[in-house]
Amino acid sequence: LPNTLVDRFGRTVDYVRLSVTDRCDFRCVYCMAEDMTFAPKSEILSLEELFQVASGMSQLGVRKIRLTGGEPLIRPNIMSLIERLGDLEQLDELALTTNGSQLQRLAPALRDAGVSRINISLDSLSPRKFRHLTRHGNLDQVIAGIDAAIAAGFEGIKINAVILKGRNEDEVHDLVQFAREREIDIAFIEEMPLGRIVEHDRELTLCNSDELRQRIASEHPLTALGEPSGTAGPARYFQLDGYQSRVGFISPHSNNFCHLCNRVRVTVEGRLLLCLGNEHSVDLRDVLRREHYHPDLLKRAIIDAMELKPERHHFDNAAEPQILRFMNATGG
Ligand code: GTP
Ligand code: 5AD
Ligand code: SF4
Repeated sequence: LPNTLVDRFGRTVDYVRLSVTDRCDFRCVYCMAEDMTFAPKSEILSLEELFQVASGMSQLGVRKIRLTGGEPLIRPNIMSLIERLGDLEQLDELALTTNGSQLQRLAPALRDAGVSRINISLDSLSPRKFRHLTRHGNLDQVIAGIDAAIAAGFEGIKINAVILKGRNEDEVHDLVQFAREREIDIAFIEEMPLGRIVEHDRELTLCNSDELRQRIASEHPLTALGEPSGTAGPARYFQLDGYQSRVGFISPHSNNFCHLCNRVRVTVEGRLLLCLGNEHSVDLRDVLRREHYHPDLLKRAIIDAMELKPERHHFDNAAEPQILRFMNATGG
């Protein structure tokens, strides 16, 4: 078997976003509906199956695994999986994306287990607006979680903020200030059309990254840092002049980054999703649960799946139907 994953367009896949649960203790308005049905236990991968996937991927040249959800840290016994992933020798980077609600409790253990980078969602610094945007979240708890992560000494901490017109766009400078004071990075994300939400009309609330960047630069001068490289994600980063922090923009609408795509996703149901904005996928759970399972079968399925990776998403084309799966089922 080959030991690298390359798709039809010559892109090397060395980064996997592994969703460990579709459940979440929050219900962010751009991510979920108010009442959601989640996958039943029989349909989700066990911790052992998740480990098999990660291990197989790492043997196929994957160098970075980012755990996503839902909220990864509410999966029962998740630390036992994270500790095993931390021991996978082939990985350069084990990262986590979280809403921060459990970090006060878990930050030191995550660091000890080998997690090097953490991304934490924070869309507002107003307790009332934070509650409205997350429906269930508590701002103080998340800020305490961010501070616990800083104290635990991760190599990188990034704040993620989805900015919506008329809701939190007035907080952009304060959010930059928040990150700057703590010497951590911050990324502003254009909302993506995943799942049928009813809370707002996504076309009306979309906040364009270039506009945002100009507004930020008028108060906090920025220097461009060039295209992402290595196992980096899609954000375009700028240095905040005179400070440690970087400001990133994830702009699926205004600046398509698909030609640099280096990643695939695995949902908690074991669906290997080749692209966030398309439905092309391969059912790894079916392979894992075959009567005569062998790790090579899984690796073969992953290698073959690369043929299905599409060239790009079409979020910018309003005529294309939106993706019906919600972000929490997709793994962000
Ligand atoms: P790194 O990859 O480590 O730089 O982190 P990241 O910023 O990509 O990951 P994070 O989990 O913090 O996700 C931030 C946002 O980027 C989320 O809204 C993701 O859905 C989005 N994102 C990540 N990868 C892709 C991608 O391939 N395509 C699109 N359109 N969005 C992505
Ligand atoms: N569009 C863009 N970003 C989203 N996130 C969740 N749903 C969406 C969406 N529809 C973000 C969260 C989190 C990251 C993993 O994905 O805010 O920071
Ligand atoms: Fe939960 Fe993250 Fe979705 Fe918010 S964006 S509901 S924190 S999975």
